Amino acid sequence: MNIEYQKLNFCNLEAYRKIRLESLKEYPDSFGASYEDQKVKEKLGFEEYIEQELPDKFIVGAFDTAKLIGICGFFRQDNARRKNAGEIIQMYVQPKYQRNMVGYWLLQTTLEEAFKIPEIDNIELGVFTANQNANTLFDNAGFEEYGLIESHVNDLGKKLDRRLMVLSREMQRTYS
Ligand SMILES: CC(C)(COP(=O)(O)OP(=O)(O)OC[C@H]1O[C@@H](n2cnc3c(N)ncnc32)[C@H](O)[C@@H]1OP(=O)(O)O)[C@@H](O)C(=O)NCCC(=O)NCCS
Repeated sequence: MNIEYQKLNFCNLEAYRKIRLESLKEYPDSFGASYEDQKVKEKLGFEEYIEQELPDKFIVGAFDTAKLIGICGFFRQDNARRKNAGEIIQMYVQPKYQRNMVGYWLLQTTLEEAFKIPEIDNIELGVFTANQNANTLFDNAGFEEYGLIESHVNDLGKKLDRRLMVLSREMQRTYS
């Protein structure tokens, strides 16, 4: 399997929207956002960031030839006090491609891009405890749990326990 990993740009907008909505539809218990809320939006939040090609709000795509088959996002808030941290979001690999290390390489490429921003010390994420595959992936990549939100309510109104995890720049060096 020859998969390529690269940041999305304005040429990938249509494919991004399609795969993002697919991820929400197929895995409603993996994400905070819901397919129902997102599909009616003329523009998804990240479409604007992709268009602008921002260095601190981006999506890395996994491509099988020209086809987008996986995504992993990075988001840094504009809040000055949070400038040294960013978040991994929207991670998804299409079912047919799962368990082939695509998720692993998507995550590594995203982390590598994010740590190119000199001010970034920590990369955080939230993952629902019931999502075994994602938990294994993040544990293996060196993320450490720093908190647990019990009964986090997602956009579908479902209560799910959510692990909060962090990877520091130093830890990334150890695990990559
Ligand atoms: C989580 C996800 C992105 C992983 O992608 P992937 O390409 O399958 O990941 P990898 O092949 O790199 O596997 C990474 C680890 O996850 C585990 N894993 C992945 N898929 C698995 C499966 N179907 N069953 C059991 N374990 C699985 C493996 O144990 C693997 O660890 P290992 O190499 O030590 O065995 C993918 O399963 C997915 O898109 N899930 C639905 C959406 C989702 O949950 N997103 C995450 C939101 S936080």
